Amino acid sequence: MIMKRKLVILGAQWGDEGKGKIVDLLSENYDLAVRYQGGSNAGHTVIANGHKLILHLLPTGILHSHVTGIIAQGMVVDLEVLNQELTDLERKGVSYEGRLFISDRAHVVFPYHKLLDRLFEKHKGIGTTLRGIGPAYMFKFARKGIRLSDFEDEKRLYSLVEENVAFVNDLCEKVFCEKSSLNPEAITEESLRLYRKYKHMVTDASRIISEHGGSILFEGAQGTMLDVDMGTYPFVTSSNSSSLGLSNGTGLSPKFFSDAYFLGVAKAYTTRVGGGPFPTELKGEEGDKLRDIGGEYGSTTGRPRRCGWLDLVALRYAVKVNSLDGLIITKLDVLDSFEEIKVCVAYECEGERIDTFPASYSLLERCKPVYETLPGWLSDTKGAKDPSALPPRAKDYIRFIEDFVGVPVIMLSTGPKREEYLWLKETLHKSVSFS
Ligand code: GDP
Ligand code: IMO
Ligand code: MG
Repeated sequence: MIMKRKLVILGAQWGDEGKGKIVDLLSENYDLAVRYQGGSNAGHTVIANGHKLILHLLPTGILHSHVTGIIAQGMVVDLEVLNQELTDLERKGVSYEGRLFISDRAHVVFPYHKLLDRLFEKHKGIGTTLRGIGPAYMFKFARKGIRLSDFEDEKRLYSLVEENVAFVNDLCEKVFCEKSSLNPEAITEESLRLYRKYKHMVTDASRIISEHGGSILFEGAQGTMLDVDMGTYPFVTSSNSSSLGLSNGTGLSPKFFSDAYFLGVAKAYTTRVGGGPFPTELKGEEGDKLRDIGGEYGSTTGRPRRCGWLDLVALRYAVKVNSLDGLIITKLDVLDSFEEIKVCVAYECEGERIDTFPASYSLLERCKPVYETLPGWLSDTKGAKDPSALPPRAKDYIRFIEDFVGVPVIMLSTGPKREEYLWLKETLHKSVSFS
């Protein structure tokens, strides 16, 4: 059990690393669970007690009845998705009343953001989730966004929506040559209806976090390589999905996180969904095998995920960007039947060896992976509860990762279910105590 009072869980690759499973597992030991960036583009899967649940907006910790959940100010909130997710929880018998709070500073995703997402994708697509995320953040930074705190003054809300709809209609007609059927009255009415339903949860969330005396788990969405500043720009999401997003996403000073423990979640291989450079992508049989065994289809969009070997150059970069204290490696079981496993230890571009992750995506696109080949373990890791139960070659693989990236792998996940994990006690970071 992690004893640190503040734990940050971040995706260390291109998203879908298994954060949902890990956060669900670790939430047991925390009493406040915070999502602070992104929106319903996220899809965090939890498989527990024979049920599968995919959370998009809600912090995964909400599934534990002792946990209070926070949707912090850095998120963009789609009220329809919020309503769907909460209704779904109710149907499953999970009560959330009194233990879910939403920041009054959070921006709202409106239907016109989703329309623009679709049009931008048609114009010059990067393969977004079409959840309106990019346009919602675009409006926020262009100072055209609408926050939950704006819903109090209904007249003003209507005029803000009307202004935005007129702007989007103009864009549709003049730039995209499409007629839009957006109706500002209907949009305002529907969002007000949903807001009224959840209004009692809307509050100063930063204050709840900063005044909380107990333990807090911060749940990152997406992953470091999708971070708008640190990722493979422009093939990224529109928020800071690395540790950089913590401060603005919660409304708290970086000092608040100085005593937090930062853990990165990474798959034992790599996946990416949507466009963009991916040096270790496998386009043939091996990629298909990873996809089949790993069930690599998007949790939000159902799209097949692109699959490839573990990119240690990118992972070491993620360790550095986030100041990770340790890593959790998931989906180790997916590699159980591979005779050989490759890991990328450098890139090569036009005869030159590159050891660090480049900023330029066009350079990254031209990079070829330099691989080291490790022998596969060809036996089951699924269900192992103790390092001594792991095949020696699987342990060698983990040690190789640790040596390369310079931080310990403190936990392994060997299956999608809540109980399929093990701690690697011999590699625990000294600042963490476990029981
Ligand atoms: P997230 O976005 O990081 O929460 O990850 P997703 O939920 O989108 O995708 C991870 C997928 O892998 C889900 O289908 C999980 O159920 C599954 N999963 C998580 N950990 C493991 C694991 O250790 N082994 C296997 N085989 N599947 C896993
Ligand atoms: P979780 O939290 C994987 C990807 C999209 C696209 C890019 C931009 O489940 O790990 P967006 O809709 O955000 O504007 O799309 O980012 N993307 C994700 N990929 N996991 C996610 O979230 C993602 N959220 C967005 O596929 O390439
Ligand atoms: Mg996901």
